[in-house]
Amino acid sequence: MLEIEDLVVSYGAVEAVRGVSLSVGAGEVVGLLGPNGAGKTSTLRAASGLVSYGGSVRFEGKEVSRLGVEKAAKAGLIHVPEGRHIFPTLTVHENLQVGATARAGRADGYSFEEVYALFPALAGMRDRGGWALSGGEQQMVAVGRALVAAPRLLMLDEPSLGLAPIVVKAVFRALRKIAERTPVLLVEQNTVMALKLCHRAAVLSGGRVVLSGTAAELSDRSAILDSYLGQERVHDAEAEHLKA
Ligand SMILES: Nc1ncnc2c1ncn2[C@@H]1O[C@H](COP(=O)(O)OP(=O)(O)OP(=O)(O)O)[C@@H](O)[C@H]1O
Ligand SMILES: [Mg+2]
Repeated sequence: MLEIEDLVVSYGAVEAVRGVSLSVGAGEVVGLLGPNGAGKTSTLRAASGLVSYGGSVRFEGKEVSRLGVEKAAKAGLIHVPEGRHIFPTLTVHENLQVGATARAGRADGYSFEEVYALFPALAGMRDRGGWALSGGEQQMVAVGRALVAAPRLLMLDEPSLGLAPIVVKAVFRALRKIAERTPVLLVEQNTVMALKLCHRAAVLSGGRVVLSGTAAELSDRSAILDSYLGQERVHDAEAEHLKA
């Protein structure tokens, strides 16, 4: 479905991604893990054609930079960016309807009712304004809108970021069901949750893949994984402390 080879992304003098190779096959859920600043978002932005890149990104055999961001989305490469960008002046249901515009005639989209079944919390608030939603509800709407757009591959950038543990669980419960039907490339800092969901994962650090393998292999190597992710685990601990 998606083949990333020797990907390089630079912002002026900053080399954010330095030769990353990664693939997602049909039916697969692949994790992209790593600490802050590792290059995860830059990899996803390149993969959906939002930034120019060196190396190659092929979606169903076609080079994404040649397709361009709009055609890539219309071909079913659907990206839910970091930070849940929903429309505050539209209702929950209207936000989902926006997703239908990217469906581009593909028949395999999720229906609105399927989205509400995946995220029962949204079902009772179809008419609520986007501005009045909690962070978790916004994330659910952002994912729901992507599903309505009939993804052939869904790319998610840190869907659990900043959410309370119970909401993270609800989001991952939905992702597990989504993954039965749609291939997923998942960027996450929540390694424990991500490895429960993913078949395979790669760990980025400093713009390079420093570790990769099946979820079981990576779980077995948790000491090494922790050494790469240690810094942000400290941040997590601090965040928990501040919340308490
Ligand atoms: N628009 C930009 N201009 C300049 N530098 C950037 C830009 N976006 C990202 N960077 C830099 O590129 C590097 C990789 O950033 P990126 O956002 O891809 O990391 P990330 O793994 O997604 O991090 P996080 O976990 O914090 O979201 C960082 O050093 C970052 O400061
Ligand atoms: Mg990021």
